[in-house]
Amino acid sequence: MEAKDIEIKQVTFLLSVVRQDQLPESPKPEYAFIGRSNVGKSSLINMLMRKKNLAHTSSAPGKTRTINLFDVDETWLLADLPGYGFAKASHVQREEFRKMIAYYLSHRPNLMNVFLLIDSRLEPQKSDLEYIDFLATNQIPFCIVFTKSDKLSQSQLAKNMAVYEAKLSEDWEELPLRFYTSAEKGNGRQDVLKYILEMNAMSQADRG
Ligand code: GTP
Ligand code: MG
Repeated sequence: MEAKDIEIKQVTFLLSVVRQDQLPESPKPEYAFIGRSNVGKSSLINMLMRKKNLAHTSSAPGKTRTINLFDVDETWLLADLPGYGFAKASHVQREEFRKMIAYYLSHRPNLMNVFLLIDSRLEPQKSDLEYIDFLATNQIPFCIVFTKSDKLSQSQLAKNMAVYEAKLSEDWEELPLRFYTSAEKGNGRQDVLKYILEMNAMSQADRG
């Protein structure tokens, strides 16, 4: 018997944050999606929510320029962040995004988990490894989501994942949880949503 798909009843856009002081206070558990420009953060959010244009996507990197918050089923919050590591952005712009991301990551008391997206086609990138380091060092809970898995064959994906795991194992004894997704095909949707709902249940139990 197959488990029933998790469905989202209602998702609403809350606001776009451009300045740090605009981040709203909220008692709801929150989940953030971060990663290099063009890795597929906004696409993954749309795939999870089964909405085509909830978060704006583009084939050109640098699309998301603000922190966009969404309310899901009036129970939890989801944050779409600007990408990092976009080579063509100006230095000032990159620095601004970096600061915004760092501020966000350290100032959300109900941030339950960060999904750090990594392009499954690429070998380990310096900027991603730096963010993994930042999250681990600051004890911010995170998982890795390997995106665009539809662009690789099974064997190529397995090979790339092995390379990544070996790289992480150089620095870390325990590897973070890893998901494999395709926004195109919907792969990984259940795994990610199930994880979020489990964390929500845990946060409720903690409070109750
Ligand atoms: P920024 O907002 O610029 O940081 O980018 P982002 O990480 O939000 O990426 P976005 O979701 O806008 O996707 C970038 C491009 O990759 C778009 O052309 C998407 O259609 C494509 N893309 C994203 N996810 C997938 C995927 O799983 N498979 C395939 N084939 N393409 C994808
Ligand atoms: Mg985006």
